[in-house]
Amino acid sequence: MAEPELRVCLDEDDLDAALRFEARYGLTSSPKRLPMRLHYDGRGAALFGELTRQPEYYPTRCERRILDSHADAIADVLATEFGTGGFESPMGAPVSVIELGAGAAEKIRVVLDALHRDGLLASFWPFDVDAGSVRDVLAELAPAYPDARLGGIVGDFTIHLRHLPEDHHNRLVAFLGGTFGNFTGPEREQFLRDLREALHPGDWFMLGADLVKDPDTILAAYNDAAGVTAEFNRNVLHVLNHRLGADFEPEHFEHVATWDGDAQTVELRLRALKPMAVALPAIGLDVAFDTGEEIHTGISVKFRPAELEDQLRAADFRPEHRWSDPDGAFAVFLARVG
Ligand SMILES: C[S@@+](CC[C@H](N)C(=O)[O-])C[C@H]1O[C@@H](n2cnc3c(N)ncnc32)[C@H](O)[C@@H]1O
Repeated sequence: MAEPELRVCLDEDDLDAALRFEARYGLTSSPKRLPMRLHYDGRGAALFGELTRQPEYYPTRCERRILDSHADAIADVLATEFGTGGFESPMGAPVSVIELGAGAAEKIRVVLDALHRDGLLASFWPFDVDAGSVRDVLAELAPAYPDARLGGIVGDFTIHLRHLPEDHHNRLVAFLGGTFGNFTGPEREQFLRDLREALHPGDWFMLGADLVKDPDTILAAYNDAAGVTAEFNRNVLHVLNHRLGADFEPEHFEHVATWDGDAQTVELRLRALKPMAVALPAIGLDVAFDTGEEIHTGISVKFRPAELEDQLRAADFRPEHRWSDPDGAFAVFLARVG
């Protein structure tokens, strides 16, 4: 079993520079804003894992159910597309799997297992901005797939898609967990264009997306009774305290999640519960908050399947399969490139 390879497109210095820029830009904007990506340090990743296990948080349960039910069908579709490297076996062509924003890469495993069972898993590459998550996944999965090549990419999927591995196998790029919904409309278009440019005919894109449904169900998922999503949302302030020596008092910011029906979007914010003056000495910035003032901390767009398929087609993907859970809460799309 070869040692997993780690490709680092984003090192600590890059992360530090991006954090400084985003904190200065976001906290001097009106309204104040901080990007979702900043939530995910080690603590943020652990809180995200915990929030996905809350009873109100249906997306992870539904997506896992879809993948559990259809992993064999997904593997069959992928393996029947013949590769360019001359590695075809009677079972089909081996596939390299890359998961963008992999986190703990829990749900993709059922697809990896299905490919592995048929001897068709060529390689697996978790890609995440959080180096700790990538390392943990590689350490955990390497023994499970001794015949496959394992490697990780530490990078930003809005910048580093041209660094996707190329190893003469057809590739499956998976983007699960509804992370695609964290982009604005223009960001989604740009991401799909960049991804299409990085892929070749014969590659596949698998996208997990949360669907439009009744607002009460959606909002409950972002307001779990145990307060885990609230703590995850406030983690961005802990990150600024830890990385920039800021003196935010996270407990004096209230977690707010609202539903914008026109935009089909959950908006996450942090609302100041009292007037506060916050210093960020590492970037020489002082920021004042009035009572009730909010920081925009992220969005989660919910989709209608046909609209999402149109967006994929507009970026030159060919959506060919769509699977949903029995309640139609979440969907997994499989689109061909070329
Ligand atoms: C919503 S979680 C999804 C995790 C996992 N894929 C799942 O389905 O449970 C988003 C993941 O994307 C990563 N992430 C967020 N923004 C990123 C970016 N710009 N580039 C790379 N990874 C990013 C986070 O670190 C986190 O692991």
